[in-house]
Amino acid sequence: MELLHDPQAARNFVKRVQQNGERVAVVPTMGALHEGHLSLVRLAKLKCDRAVATIFVNPTQFAPGEDLDKYPRTLDKDLEQLQQNGVDAVFVPEVSTMYPAGCTTSILPPRVAEGLEGEIRPEHFGGVCTIVLKLLQCLPCDAAVFGEKDFQQLRVIESMVEDFNLPIKVIPGEIVRDPDGLAMSSRNRYLTSVERSRALAIPRSLDCLVADVANGIIDVKELQRRLELRLMGDSDATQEPKVGGGRLGVDSIDYAVLADANQLRPIDSLDQPSVALIAARVGETRLIDNRVIGVGRT
Ligand code: PAF
Repeated sequence: MELLHDPQAARNFVKRVQQNGERVAVVPTMGALHEGHLSLVRLAKLKCDRAVATIFVNPTQFAPGEDLDKYPRTLDKDLEQLQQNGVDAVFVPEVSTMYPAGCTTSILPPRVAEGLEGEIRPEHFGGVCTIVLKLLQCLPCDAAVFGEKDFQQLRVIESMVEDFNLPIKVIPGEIVRDPDGLAMSSRNRYLTSVERSRALAIPRSLDCLVADVANGIIDVKELQRRLELRLMGDSDATQEPKVGGGRLGVDSIDYAVLADANQLRPIDSLDQPSVALIAARVGETRLIDNRVIGVGRT
């Protein structure tokens, strides 16, 4: 596995692979790898002959006061796991390489970035688009793999790739869950065991939503009401809200909504590809999750 630190070496790697008539896929990450990332790497190898990963904790997608400084950095273990999973090269640039002094250009993200995460973290997707475009310039691969766990990020990147006619195929990778149902995330390690058990209200509320829809409940407002109640720990969300309930759920909800699965706009019926999107806080930790409902995306 080649370790690359500068953009020219990264471009040369891709060029060499493609000159050999092989296809290469990139998996951008911020490190602190878990099975979710490794599944993306394996998907990259399945879809292309070669896989290259990137590890870069991108400062421009964190707002002041967010967890940039405490974001887990586990480079040695990450490299070991990438090698074990057949990655051919890893691009690990310095901050000063990606953002040299005087670098002031940034990307205005597409419309799909406006609501949800974009509303709560207004600078986030500008930072994500800017770094992803820069990484794709360093690694002009045939394909790029992004996880569906960050569903809005995936849609934002797909839109940017389309809007800028970037010659790269975006491949979505399915969410990977721990056996207890919690979607894997580098931030799960911030949770205490008590917080973790309360965070399970997130995947459970999504399971219940799917069951509600299967049982014929299609009123979006009612589905969202039940989603919120279950997130707050009310296991019997079919009843009217109980005063004082909610001790087994999350501490607060940033959003828990149903949206159309393409543009992520609010919906009032399920007669289109739809997705339930959740962002919630447990203790100090902010978690996101989602579930595509029904027929999925077009
Ligand atoms: O999903 C992530 O880990 C990051 O947002 C990404 C795409 C690597 C950009 O920094």
